[in-house]
Formats: sequence, structure tokens, C-alpha cells
Amino acid sequence: MRSGSLGVARPSSPPQNFRPVHQGLAERLACFHDEVKRDFEGVNRIAIAIYDAGTDILKSFVDSSEGDNPFEHTVARLADLKPLAQLARTGGRRVINDLASHPAGTPAHVRRLLSAGYLSSYTVPIFHKGTFHGFIFFNSFQAGYFSPAVVQRLRTVAEVVSLHTIMELDAVRMIQAAVETVRQISRARDEETGAHLERMARYARLIALRLAPRRGLSDEWVEFLFQFAPLHDVGKIAVPDQILFKPGRLTPEEFTVMKTHVTKGCEIVDTMANTFRIGGAPYVRVLRNVVAHHHEAIDGSGYPHGLVGEEISLEGRITAVADVFDALTSVRPYKSAWSVEEALAYLAEQGGRKFDKDAVDILCNSQAAIADIQSQFAESQLD
Ligand SMILES: [Fe+2]
Ligand SMILES: [Fe+2]
Repeated sequence: MRSGSLGVARPSSPPQNFRPVHQGLAERLACFHDEVKRDFEGVNRIAIAIYDAGTDILKSFVDSSEGDNPFEHTVARLADLKPLAQLARTGGRRVINDLASHPAGTPAHVRRLLSAGYLSSYTVPIFHKGTFHGFIFFNSFQAGYFSPAVVQRLRTVAEVVSLHTIMELDAVRMIQAAVETVRQISRARDEETGAHLERMARYARLIALRLAPRRGLSDEWVEFLFQFAPLHDVGKIAVPDQILFKPGRLTPEEFTVMKTHVTKGCEIVDTMANTFRIGGAPYVRVLRNVVAHHHEAIDGSGYPHGLVGEEISLEGRITAVADVFDALTSVRPYKSAWSVEEALAYLAEQGGRKFDKDAVDILCNSQAAIADIQSQFAESQLD
């Protein structure tokens, strides 16, 4: 049975806005795999991993697998995967025709492939305009499947998969660029530094990845959340400067105006989706939920709609935890930075009340990863 991202177990009856996103590139890859199988019967798995240069992280993205997907929700440092790091540097391709007698002994990732029944692999790096973006992995249940003749003929297939991956990433980046341009022009960056946005996106990814097996989230959904979490406050461009930059406490009237940044943000996303004609794309839904729900609270005390519990999208709940945690642990004009322990203690106290308890628990158990993110994206003079 085909599993792939499409085979991720769905919760028995997920609430409407809780449903993982399964369309988009994952679905297209599964259809394309069906076509590829007509000519290449032995290609039993096609998978894409994408690369985040900021953290040197290679992360599973989408796959179409006839057997189990051995790398669902997997992240690794590229530097720790020496043969792959070399392909990323040189642009070379790699065939391993007998994984069972892998020359470097049996590394963990090879063991995972073998236990899922895959005996051979062909790996192609994805480059676009000279920049490395990730890998395509072809796997077969047959040893020796990737002969020179098959590899030669698979070149076109690899190019098509590369192109679709780049197009998907480009669409996502186009939205980010559009939002960033608006932010820059309006100079409405308020206290949100570049480093804050980099860190909170990675806290969101960390939480989502660890939540993924329990909640049936696809790797593609996790990636969209990572890309769009930093855009949560896009609507602040519509908040007047005297309120946005006011150093002291806001009056109740000013706070009412400040709160409109959520509905303004939704309007901006909707306008953008209409302008670019991408309203139906799954990533737009993730972006809209991030913007719409990042100030809602589990107990209904949030805004703008006072949604309760799972009425709030998972995107919104994860973004809220990631954003507040980084805000607490950062210096802001009106406050000094809390320690990680203090911020986690606060979130733990509010878990299940204001914040999603599972998301908070994950963050509380991720102190090493938090330290890594903080050191990789420290505040600088440039922010
Ligand atoms: Fe906000
Ligand atoms: Fe923020």
C-alpha cells in the first residue's frame, strides 16, 4: 500500500480546522510517482528533503513510498551526513546498489531504509541558480536496480521533481518576500527583530515536528508552518505609529486599535491570495491560520474571536507558544530578557489555560534545542 505523506494516519474525527494539510506537492508527487512506475517499475519510493542553510538542517519534506516511509519527521544536520554533504558541495549524484553491504558499515539511516525493505538508492541534489536546496531520494526494493541505463533515463524524472520542488518553495518565498516588502516600506517592524523571527520560526518547527506523529501532521505542513510563522504580525503595518511604537503601556482604547492587527493581517493575506490567484493552495491556509489565531487563547480569553481549545487552529496555537516564548526570553525596549527557565515556568503554568499544553510540554523538554537556536540566532547590531 502506498504510504508517503498521504499515508500519515489521520486522527479518527479531526475538527475542521485541525486537519493536516495533505494536498499540494505531496499529492502531486504521488500522482507523478504512479506515472514514473509505468517506465520504472522498480522505483518504489521518491522522497524530497529540503535544506535550511541557516541551521544546516536537512529535513524530510514530501515523499511517495510504496512501503513505510523510513524518514517521516526526520531532521539532521547536513554536516553530520558526510556523503550527502559532499553531494551538496559538488553537485554529484550517488547510487548505492546494495544497501545491505553499504561500504561504511551500516549507518542508522541505512538501517532504517533496510528495515522498510529498500535495498538500493539513487540520490540527486536539488540545485537552483547555483544554490543547494535539498535532495531527491529514489529507492527500490530490488538490489542493483539503479543500473547506469536506469540512472541515465531517470535524469529527466529527477529534473521534473526538482522543478516542482523549486516552484513550490518559490511560491512560498514569493509570499514571504511580498510581506517583507510591505513591512519594510511601512517601516512597521516594531520590536520584532529579524533574529526574533528566525528563532520563533524554529521554535515553531521544533514543536510541530515533535507533535507530528501524534497529530498526523505531514512534513509538508510542518515546513509551511516554519516558513509562515514569522509572518504572524503582518497586520501591524496597519497600526498607527504612535500606538505601535509607544514606549509605555497602551490605554484600553489604544489596545483596541492594536488588536485590529489580526483582522488587518487576515485581509492582507486574502488580498495577496486573490492577487496571486493562490487562494486554494494549502500553504495559504497555513499562513491564514497563523495570522488569524496567534492571539487566541485556549480558555477563550484571547482575541479577536475568543475561540476556545481546538477551535483555534494548531498553526495558531503553536505560533502563539513559539512567539511568546521568544518574546519573553528577548530584551524589548520595555523589559529585560527572562531566563529560559523563567519563561518555560510561565508557559508551563499557563499550559492548558492560555496556551496549548502539548506544545508547551514539548518546549519544556527541548532545552538543548532551545540553546542551539539561541546561539545560532543571537541578537546583533544588524537587527
Ligand atoms: Fe500579533
Ligand atoms: Fe512576534
